[in-house]
Amino acid sequence: MKRDFLSIEDFSREEILNIFKQAKYFKENKYHSIFNNKILAMIFEKASTRTRVSFEVAATHLGGSAIFLSSNDSQLGRGEDIVDTARVLSSYVDMVVIRTFEQEKIEAFAKYSSVPVINGLTDLRHPCQILTDIFTIIETIGDIEGKTVSFVGDGNNMMNSWITALLKLDFKLYCAFPKGYEPDSQIVAKAKKDGIGELILTNSPEEAVMEADVVNTDVWASMGQEMEQKKREKAFHSFQINESLLSKAKKNPFVLHCLPAHKGEEISAAIFDKNSNYIFREAENRLHVQKAIMEKLITP
Ligand code: CP
Ligand code: NVA
Repeated sequence: MKRDFLSIEDFSREEILNIFKQAKYFKENKYHSIFNNKILAMIFEKASTRTRVSFEVAATHLGGSAIFLSSNDSQLGRGEDIVDTARVLSSYVDMVVIRTFEQEKIEAFAKYSSVPVINGLTDLRHPCQILTDIFTIIETIGDIEGKTVSFVGDGNNMMNSWITALLKLDFKLYCAFPKGYEPDSQIVAKAKKDGIGELILTNSPEEAVMEADVVNTDVWASMGQEMEQKKREKAFHSFQINESLLSKAKKNPFVLHCLPAHKGEEISAAIFDKNSNYIFREAENRLHVQKAIMEKLITP
């Protein structure tokens, strides 16, 4: 039975812990042959630097190769049915990464694909990034369980995936967002009901960072929301991660950012610079964690 990785929910807690172990191995051992002669198709309907390059490099390091398809390069851009595309592409390749808008689209693709499908970001979720962020936290402070993570910003794909991680790992998560920019209500309800970790939602960034071991943020306007930039700058102006906000934190937290960053908006240039070692290690870790995800899907 083929497996997909469309949400953090798709792996058990044990599998996630094992992915972290394997990511550490891949960080120390760049080349491997688990993807020998295999081909990864990468369908991207949105821009990407990290996800695109790290998956392509991962496929090559593991002995295989990758084919990149932007919306303009395939018939998907001209309206070909996603289901037909899934059936055709999966008869050629061994794994597919998709970055698109609707989560439903990736789910439809996965349903009709005969090979594993990985979510490279949708409007709703960004699971590869959140597993990488957690790996980076474990690498930095030894564990995530028993720690307090704070996400300050938009209730977007990043915040939603952080909330989903509470279903698998026992940590405390503060999410701070302005009114009107809440995370997905179904994801929140599920985490509150079934989460092994604790979720605290607030409109106060100060409350969110107070107990934090690590503070996360992301852009105020995600891909596809560029038209709302000005409106969002107003709504989020008091949600910037800066010296003043972090002076409220008791534990001197480090800061992560999935990138790309808009310095001077969600994060001040000074705080970005101060935390750049963590942030760029986080970006590098995408490569190692995604190799472990690919390994898990190719050898279930
Ligand atoms: N963080 C992240 O997914 O970056 P890209 O948009 O560059 O892939
Ligand atoms: N929330 C951002 C993440 C980019 C990696 C977006 O969806 O554009």
